[in-house]
Amino acid sequence: MESRKKSILCVDTGVDDALALCYALSHEDLDLIGICASYGMATVPKTYSNTKHIVNSLGKGDQIPVYMGSEKPLQRDREYSGTFHGMDGLGNQNLPDISGDATPEESVDFIVDSIKRYGEDLQIITTGPMTDMAKVLLRFPDGPLPGFSMVSMAGAAITPGNCNLYSEANVMVDPEAAKICFESGVPITMVGLDVTRKTLLTEKELKVWQGYDSESAKILSKAVGFYLEAYRVHHPYLAGCALHDPLAVGVAMHPDLVTTIPMNITVVTSGEADGDTVENLDKVAEEPTTKVALSVDGKRFMKDFYAHMDAVLR
Ligand code: RIB
Ligand code: CA
Repeated sequence: MESRKKSILCVDTGVDDALALCYALSHEDLDLIGICASYGMATVPKTYSNTKHIVNSLGKGDQIPVYMGSEKPLQRDREYSGTFHGMDGLGNQNLPDISGDATPEESVDFIVDSIKRYGEDLQIITTGPMTDMAKVLLRFPDGPLPGFSMVSMAGAAITPGNCNLYSEANVMVDPEAAKICFESGVPITMVGLDVTRKTLLTEKELKVWQGYDSESAKILSKAVGFYLEAYRVHHPYLAGCALHDPLAVGVAMHPDLVTTIPMNITVVTSGEADGDTVENLDKVAEEPTTKVALSVDGKRFMKDFYAHMDAVLR
């Protein structure tokens, strides 16, 4: 099963976002009409620049527009540790700033215009904090909601979080935004840690990419080397680093990669479980709008992912 909707990819580039970008930009099954880069794993000038570097390195700079997203969460402060992605988002390789005259939140207008133009033929893939999408939804306060759908790398249903026992990083960075999105009624496929921890990149694949001469292979090899080392230290049980964001792109193209359960989801925004994605008991009797991915055909996904990455990086 394939999906040929128009797609917008909202990233916070980020090492695995960079992988997701390469995969998305190289795939014949994705009709990508634009990319939005917000703050998230680094500041927005950095994530935007990183995104442009990846797009340019693949020779797509003239083909795919990149819009700058939000600078910070809706209500909270954002501090950066650099633990998994480096302070620059790509493993501390500090590529030149090419953010130019891009301005924060220009992404929101682009997404709103695309929703009005394409309606249910549009899907929005988010692989970072859901701040931009919350701002988009706040532009439609009275509904009816436009017919677009989302595929989001967000949350943890059964598996433990990666910030603490409860929360996944993209949700934890801006829980209020994630809550707006999940409670909005927009159909969302939640590609959370329950499935993304089952799709891994290892030293073996990195070694192959390190042997390639292309600019994109050089950028990604450095970034992935840093990411793998962080996983080795902080998540040694995984024996690799998780392909969180590429899997969201994979599911957007091929929804049958995952099996899902229907549920209405909300987000805890205070206390010990701050940032947890849980069933919305206020809507337990209503038609569910979120599909929560609980299992994945990891072999099929990784075969397709590595084949496309190999073709684009060599
Ligand atoms: O929890 C994993 C998510 O956090 C991924 O999107 C990764 O890029 C980071 O943003
Ligand atoms: Ca990300």
